Amino acid sequence: MAKNKTAYVCNECGQDFPRWQGQCSACNEWNTITEVRLGSSSAKRTHQFSGYAGQTSNQVQTLDQIDLSELPRIASSFGEFDRVLGGGIVPGSAILIGGHPGAGKSTLLLQTLCQLSESMNALYVTGEESLQQVAMRAHRLGLPTQKLRMLSETSVEAICDIALNEKPKIMVVDSIQVMHMADIQSSPGSVSQVRESASYLTRFAKQQGIAVIMVGHVTKDGSLAGPKVLEHCIDCSVMFEGDSDSRYRTLRSHKNRFGAINELGVFAMTERGLKEVANPSAIFLSREEASSGSLVMVVWEGTRPLLVELQVLVDNSAMANPRRVAVGMDANRLAMLLAVMHRHGGLQMSDQDVFVNVVGGVKVSETSADLTLLLAMVSSFRGEIMSPELVVFGEVGLSGEIRPVPNGQERLIEAAKHGFKRAIVPKANMPKKAPEGMEVIGVTKLAQALEAL
Ligand code: TYD
Ligand code: MG
Repeated sequence: MAKNKTAYVCNECGQDFPRWQGQCSACNEWNTITEVRLGSSSAKRTHQFSGYAGQTSNQVQTLDQIDLSELPRIASSFGEFDRVLGGGIVPGSAILIGGHPGAGKSTLLLQTLCQLSESMNALYVTGEESLQQVAMRAHRLGLPTQKLRMLSETSVEAICDIALNEKPKIMVVDSIQVMHMADIQSSPGSVSQVRESASYLTRFAKQQGIAVIMVGHVTKDGSLAGPKVLEHCIDCSVMFEGDSDSRYRTLRSHKNRFGAINELGVFAMTERGLKEVANPSAIFLSREEASSGSLVMVVWEGTRPLLVELQVLVDNSAMANPRRVAVGMDANRLAMLLAVMHRHGGLQMSDQDVFVNVVGGVKVSETSADLTLLLAMVSSFRGEIMSPELVVFGEVGLSGEIRPVPNGQERLIEAAKHGFKRAIVPKANMPKKAPEGMEVIGVTKLAQALEAL
């Protein structure tokens, strides 16, 4: 009698454990560990890819014997999508696109595949929407529909069998949460089904040289197996973010075996589908008039600078514990900067509510926003309106010193390109020659920056 193997896996971080426990000892989340049936241990894997293409070999080789001739990447027809993937889709790679329902993952992939099917064999597998729904959408968006091969199927084995005959160069599986494999008992969407389906599809992609793009939904409470548990088996994990009621969506890579991570692509959702935004700085900067507490910073996103507006509101608090709210920024960083402000800037805000917002739903994790945040705070506190032509960036240390950030020169050039006339930057980021038409002020201490303001 074959014994069923079980394991316990955390839905948040993907760590597995031999027995159940209330808290994951890897990521410290509570109640995220669920039981996973790994299929029977003695039962043979009933399904094998029959047309094994032999791309991998079992021989031991030295590093320099390995064939370096890279297959050309597939251009996805969206420049922003290619940028996030590190320059296009690598043949034979497994890519996961995660995001909340309604983010536009299906739309993005349908548009991409319709364009690609003009020049290569492409297969779109839909397990969520019916074929009619997808066809209607493609028709409404005016996409080329003659060549794209469509399949409505949720069994992973069946999909791989059909793909072996179809021989597509690229295949989309929408979505991984509805896929299932025969030798796993649990229901589709459970951790074990999602994990096994994804690793099966990944192996299939590698062995057949087919680029497989999987869609994965993320839910707020994490009750479904989120893409987190898949991250170690796939090659690239990109997140499609943005509320369904906002116009702009951002695509960001969290893992990429073929390029840099944290690269950002910006799209706009229109009634004619997704359009890429080639110059994102322009959309985050549409300010009617300057106001107090609002200041523009230059953050570094992947391989390019991005101008983003930061807003701060400082207001008398009616509460014993004033509120500190940061949207699009780390709240701990805000608390730290408030302390620096008090000690080294001489500004007491312990009786003030402080609200911080990064405009356009952008998330800033970079330290270059520190100085911008402090100066915007001062502006709001004093009710002074700052020049709309001022741009600020720089890291602030705990002793009130202003530290340099990488790529200072490129940031200044980008700001000058958008018509900014003055910049307050760390002294070490001062260029030898300021960009044309721009006055650059270098500072080393917080007090100096306040003076320059
Ligand atoms: P969809 O691609 O179905 O999302 P996902 O697959 O990530 O769940 O996108 C659905 C959303 O996009 C829906 O809220 C409507 C919006 N949308 C538009 O605004 N314009 C369009 O042309 C399309 C196709 C969708
Ligand atoms: Mg969808």
